[in-house]
Amino acid sequence: MLLKITLLPGDGIGPEVTDEAVRILETVAEVFGHQISLTRKDIGGAALVSSSNPLPNDTLKACVASGAVLLGAVGGPSFDGVAANMRPESGLLRLRRELAVFANLRPAVCFPALEDCSPLRAEVVRGTDILIVRELLGGIYFGEPRLIQGPNGQRSAIDTMHYSEPEIERIAHVAFELARARRRKVTSVDKANVLDCSRLWREVTSRVAMDYPDVQLSHMYVDSAAMALVARPAEFDVLLTENMFGDILSDQVGGIVGSLGMLASASVGGPVALYEPVHGSAPDIAGRGIANPLGAILSVAMLLRHSFRLEAEATSVEAAVADVLSAGHRTRDLAKPGQEPISTSQMGNFTAAAIKQRAKSVA
Ligand code: IPM
Ligand code: MG
Repeated sequence: MLLKITLLPGDGIGPEVTDEAVRILETVAEVFGHQISLTRKDIGGAALVSSSNPLPNDTLKACVASGAVLLGAVGGPSFDGVAANMRPESGLLRLRRELAVFANLRPAVCFPALEDCSPLRAEVVRGTDILIVRELLGGIYFGEPRLIQGPNGQRSAIDTMHYSEPEIERIAHVAFELARARRRKVTSVDKANVLDCSRLWREVTSRVAMDYPDVQLSHMYVDSAAMALVARPAEFDVLLTENMFGDILSDQVGGIVGSLGMLASASVGGPVALYEPVHGSAPDIAGRGIANPLGAILSVAMLLRHSFRLEAEATSVEAAVADVLSAGHRTRDLAKPGQEPISTSQMGNFTAAAIKQRAKSVA
């Protein structure tokens, strides 16, 4: 199979972790006999510097023409001063919108080898396997009007949270369908005691649930969900929520399973899907070769599975990650006092070797 992929390394640790993701793609291609055609393009701050546009046309064109897009991260403190519509993040938001990827899937699994990496007790995180289904193209991220207005000292700011029934319906269907292949539980998270958007959200998700009598739906307020996630993470299966709540809770869940560096994501729903680790650009550690590449590597597994239907390939990447963690390899974010952390590229190398090793033992 020919895998046509656009690679957007982006900013901060993005280039470092996507280098390892590419190493994994190449290893999978070699082991399973595929061809990869990779096009590298700029996005975010890197694109601002190279072409004064956080999403250059030529980047967008390449993405639309490929089978899948793999992104590192965008943003960094050096862009804090730029106008809102020129920020690196606005390039990513526009890319999501142009690709029409309304469903953001963020699995958070506590690997058995990492049970004691969580700040929570091992018996609390054991068995945690959550799939956050985050609505990605609506809510306060995209609602209009949005502006800062008025004379200095008296200015006011407006952001608009907006959701329509069709927007809620389509993301709810995604969550229920995915729950069917899992433990058949959907927890819909909202703030229906305060927000009209959330009241509509609750009504529509309850209606959609009637099409899925085999799936159990419950509703939770977001504040209460934040607490329940740290108290009983293993009880969650699919967590369905709107754009901003999903952004916040997915970082929290990263902390719960041991490191945000482990989390992968897939943004789907349009003709071309977008894959990115959840962690972001991490400017504080960028360029030092110490970032955890496993979020990006697990994003490759999602890419193989969702965009190319390569289930065996995806499973081999996930199993290889479990292997290297079981073998005790830890990047700095996962290492405990006394454990010698390995570098980003060492982690990539070990994972690639584990994929080859598994292929050998099957052959
Ligand atoms: C994420 C990030 C993005 C978001 C930023 C970089 C725009 O935090 O993917 O979680 O808020 O969606
Ligand atoms: Mg985020």
